[in-house]
Amino acid sequence: MAETSPHASSRSDSSPGGAAGAGVSRFRVGLTGGIGSGKSLAADEFSRLGAHVIDADAIAHELTAAGGKAIEPIRAQFGTGFIDEAGALNRSRMRELVFRDIAAKKALEQMLHPMIRAEADAFAQAASKTTPYLVFSIPLLVESGTWRDRVDRVLVIDCAIETQIARVMRRNGLEKSAACRIIANQATRKARLDAADDVLVNEVTQEAARRRVARLHALYSRHGQGLPRAAGSSASL
Ligand SMILES: Nc1ncnc2c1ncn2[C@@H]1O[C@H](COP(=O)(O)OP(=O)(O)OP(=O)(O)O)[C@@H](O)[C@H]1O
Ligand SMILES: [Mg+2]
Repeated sequence: MAETSPHASSRSDSSPGGAAGAGVSRFRVGLTGGIGSGKSLAADEFSRLGAHVIDADAIAHELTAAGGKAIEPIRAQFGTGFIDEAGALNRSRMRELVFRDIAAKKALEQMLHPMIRAEADAFAQAASKTTPYLVFSIPLLVESGTWRDRVDRVLVIDCAIETQIARVMRRNGLEKSAACRIIANQATRKARLDAADDVLVNEVTQEAARRRVARLHALYSRHGQGLPRAAGSSASL
């Protein structure tokens, strides 16, 4: 897979950590996957093993919480009706708007995505110099495009759509139709797999999935230390 992906080959030409972004030269892994695939499970395990994880969802949440940097720009563009009494983004109202209005969705993304990237770069700069590599957990890595060139390697957490639906129904208490709607609005499974350097198939127990993360941790730690890429080091676990 790595060998056939144009993104993978262009990245592998650059030195580890050579991805763009605020002059940070550290090996960067982009972690992505569809809703309910197991990104958080994998990110938690990478973190437990000692990698530094930067979470785009958490950054977006912080930017749109009361007092967050995105609040005044959102108020200016969308109106005070989208800010709640506490001064945070009114999430349900915004969700409803962007669901039916593609131009509003794009406008919100154009505002938030550069802010998220800037915050992620700041976190990367501040990360301890002793961490072997950085993990950027980016749910919309494939959708947003720009992230691909900002990481050295893309790891996709993959599972069958039926598995995603079952997990999301169980975790969020959603109807099947609602889970399917969210999935239909994300990149396709094929688009994500096409963008992957490594794939962690999370159709196993959580324990087995964590063991797979540990194997990737060993691989990424080697890259982080600047060791040459072993032949055929693309992992499909
Ligand atoms: N291998 C597994 N076996 C059983 N349940 C799992 C497994 N992996 C994850 N889950 C469960 O599925 C749900 C989704 O997992 P997780 O939150 O890690 O996914 P995610 O990709 O981060 O989702 P989101 O896109 O919503 O952030 C959680 O309730 C988690 O406990
Ligand atoms: Mg998650």
